[in-house]
Amino acid sequence: MSDQPAPLPPAPLAETPRLSWPTTLVRDSYLAGERADALASGTPLDSLEQAAGDFDAYVRERRGVRTRWGVPSTVFWYVAGRDYLGTLVVRHQLTPELAQVGGHIGYHVVPPWRRQGHATRMLAAGLNECRALGLGQVLVTCDADNEPSRRVILANGGVPDGRAGHEDRFWIDLGSTTSTRQPR
Ligand SMILES: CC(C)(COP(=O)(O)OP(=O)(O)OC[C@H]1O[C@@H](n2cnc3c(N)ncnc32)[C@H](O)[C@@H]1OP(=O)(O)O)[C@@H](O)C(=O)NCCC(=O)NCCS
Repeated sequence: MSDQPAPLPPAPLAETPRLSWPTTLVRDSYLAGERADALASGTPLDSLEQAAGDFDAYVRERRGVRTRWGVPSTVFWYVAGRDYLGTLVVRHQLTPELAQVGGHIGYHVVPPWRRQGHATRMLAAGLNECRALGLGQVLVTCDADNEPSRRVILANGGVPDGRAGHEDRFWIDLGSTTSTRQPR
């Protein structure tokens, strides 16, 4: 058994989290949260070291609609005041590859903020962004072993549509409701 004390829970949030374009306001919590995420997942820390070196440029490169995965894509950060909780990416279109695995939306919540319902609410906010883009149905996929993500998708109305490779596929019908997208 480890002698390490359990990590302290983060302080209560000052305000309700919302999707925002990447912002320098959350520099410290972004770097700390993403570092914890990289350590937990075994991802190299190189890009975070670059980010820490010139965070203004790092943020500038991530704002607005950019072509990634071969399609127009928008990166959002889920923030509350100066607290960064996670990232959500909206891909505005699907390529044949994304139509199998990847889908319209990808997301993660950084470790200090997990298991508090943030991913479930963040995906709901991401679906509003998809409505604002005029999408009627959204494809979300997750690793077949990723039970937390499966629950996030199901809680947002995901309807299973088989498996591609090791990823389970879900469609979310956005219906005809209009967007309640928040200003940024
Ligand atoms: C998957 C992930 C986004 C979930 O974030 P989160 O903020 O903890 O999710 P929520 O708090 O909204 O929890 C959603 C559900 O999963 C459950 N859950 C969350 N973490 C869990 C865990 N480690 N073990 C079991 N259940 C878990 C919650 O209890 C909740 O269940 P409920 O709806 O039945 O109450 C987060 O763990 C993460 O970023 N993981 C790494 C990246 C990733 O997997 N991204 C998704 C790619 S498709």
